[in-house]
Amino acid sequence: LNVIVIAGGLSPEREVSLRSGARVADALRRAGVEVELRDVGKDLLPALAQDPPGVVFPVLHGIAGEDGTIKEVLELAGVPYVGARPQACRTAFDKTTAKAILEQAGLKTPESVTLPKQAFHDLGAAALTAQVVEWLGLELFVKPRACGSAFGVSRVELAEDLPQALMACFAYHDEALIERRVTGTEIAVAVADLGDGPRALPVVEIVADGLYDYTARYTPGAVEFHCPARLSAEVAQEAARVAVAAHEALGLLDLSRTDAIVTEDGEVFVLETNVAPGMTETSTYPMALAEAGLDFGGFCRDLAAQAAMR
Ligand code: DAL
Ligand code: MG
Repeated sequence: LNVIVIAGGLSPEREVSLRSGARVADALRRAGVEVELRDVGKDLLPALAQDPPGVVFPVLHGIAGEDGTIKEVLELAGVPYVGARPQACRTAFDKTTAKAILEQAGLKTPESVTLPKQAFHDLGAAALTAQVVEWLGLELFVKPRACGSAFGVSRVELAEDLPQALMACFAYHDEALIERRVTGTEIAVAVADLGDGPRALPVVEIVADGLYDYTARYTPGAVEFHCPARLSAEVAQEAARVAVAAHEALGLLDLSRTDAIVTEDGEVFVLETNVAPGMTETSTYPMALAEAGLDFGGFCRDLAAQAAMR
């Protein structure tokens, strides 16, 4: 089996992807797989055409990667790849669309509204703020409709801070997803499918001192993780059920990671499902694999091998 790991790319999450990709490539090598690590660029397609690998393992986060674009290219090149198909990636990466799909599947997500940048100009900051606070109350989370690693995400405690949060968000996307804050325990649930159906790995609990923002995510020691999460067996099982249901409702393949909040009464609210979960030293997917007793390299090799057969 020879594998090309694609990492880097064009999104704001480029640096994260390079770290995730290097770790995946290294783990595959240690598991005995022949690996080449490549960035996205105009030489990618000719390289794939000239010397097609057995399989591509895309480890691209964010736009032009996690949104299905790279999968379209691989479909056109006729090269098998790890992970979900283009359309499923596209819907999962679009938080507004994904929320609608998840809710239709009976899962809970925080109450929300999605607003275009234009609404900010049309209504003005004051009127827009009043409207949003009337709809959703406070506190709020403002997020780009499609992005990752908490780029452009703000927590809004005071109405007067909403315009600035929206401006920060619009730097990354023309539409803002504004969610009512659900308080509770922040968790990440990795889902893996090695041919026997998707199953959830042990739940990771995230205890950030403040926001689980970009710096907190990628600075070793900045966040306290508990794996398994300090949840009752019943609630942990519910979180696992929700993550698998999200994976299935979004039509994903091989792997995903669902981020959620568990309320005090054990209700699970899905924040989002990632089709290309981070694989860095501080990312939760590898922590869950380790807790499940799965070797990271062996797992990546098995995913690649199963994708090569598709
Ligand atoms: N978007 C980052 C890489 C994550 O979800 O882990
Ligand atoms: Mg994400």
